Amino acid sequence: MNEKYIPVVVIKELGETDKILTALRNNGITCAEITFRTACAKEAIAYAVKNYPDMTIGAGTVINKAQCAEALEAGATFIVSPGLSVGVAELCREKKIPYYPGCVTPTEIMQALELGITTVKFFPAGVYGGLSAMKALSAPFPQIRFIPTGGVDRSNIDEYLAFDKVEAIGGSFFVKEALEKQAQK
Ligand code: 3PG
Repeated sequence: MNEKYIPVVVIKELGETDKILTALRNNGITCAEITFRTACAKEAIAYAVKNYPDMTIGAGTVINKAQCAEALEAGATFIVSPGLSVGVAELCREKKIPYYPGCVTPTEIMQALELGITTVKFFPAGVYGGLSAMKALSAPFPQIRFIPTGGVDRSNIDEYLAFDKVEAIGGSFFVKEALEKQAQK
């Protein structure tokens, strides 16, 4: 992942896409994880890929292979799941697309490694022990890099970023911040 910040984006209606992506871009963020939590997720990804070629557009909350296929058809360039799906991992490997599954236990990390994955989403980071848990997991798994997400915000982002095993930070707060700044303009 070349991006350091991965905003978790929920687009309720396609018409909101411009507002959200423009706000993120104006706030210096060049990435968006558009989540499959809403009916228009696939369309929003396709729209974003076409209209924001300077941004890295991926799909989030991808919980099965069918959703993953839709996301890839729409042009998503990375896939994120809250947990680990073997079907999603296999499809991403076949299509050579990075997949970041949610993993918080040693067993889940071992499963990811067996699938050839070395960067995982640590979710929900705040609930599963945050930084100290990632540090403890790094002892047996020095090859693993983490994308802490869930409960990360301005108050703790710097602590997470200071840990060298943190690949990137995910969170909905990036969207909230960007929209707030946009509203002040
Ligand atoms: C996710 O799916 O990654 C979370 O909803 C993001 O969690 P946050 O809202 O605490 O950033």
